[in-house]
Amino acid sequence: MATITRLHVNGRDAALEADGERILLSVLRDDLGLTGCKPGCGEGQCGACTVLVDGKPVRSCSMPASAVGEAKIRTVEGLEQDGKLHPVQQAFLEADAMQCGYCTCGMILSAVALLEQHPTPTEEQFLAAMDGNICRCGVYNNIRSAVKRASE
Ligand code: FES
Repeated sequence: MATITRLHVNGRDAALEADGERILLSVLRDDLGLTGCKPGCGEGQCGACTVLVDGKPVRSCSMPASAVGEAKIRTVEGLEQDGKLHPVQQAFLEADAMQCGYCTCGMILSAVALLEQHPTPTEEQFLAAMDGNICRCGVYNNIRSAVKRASE
């Protein structure tokens, strides 16, 4: 069984020893203590477990850790720079774009990926990027406001 010994996470090489068939979400949370990505549906449908792999949002519940290879992973813990929140994190705070907060890290990472690709996204681009992230509290209007605020 394949063993993975390191992952590139948040700009660092993280050393570990894990069965590569384990899902990425489990390795990030349980082995590396990066608990921003959340277990939700476990089937790639809700977006709570979203992380960025080479800048693209992926559902870490549905990806074997061994599939990451040399790619660079970013989690919500890696967004803050020099003690300053990422503009998308700041915008989520200012727009009050969370209620229970369970979906928030996944939402933020999907928004970061969107804005890196489309700094001023159209409505269609926004919907396409955020469509797979579900908020059971329903604060979608505030999330929309936060992404708009971060894009300005
Ligand atoms: Fe991964 Fe829902 S927990 S998409």
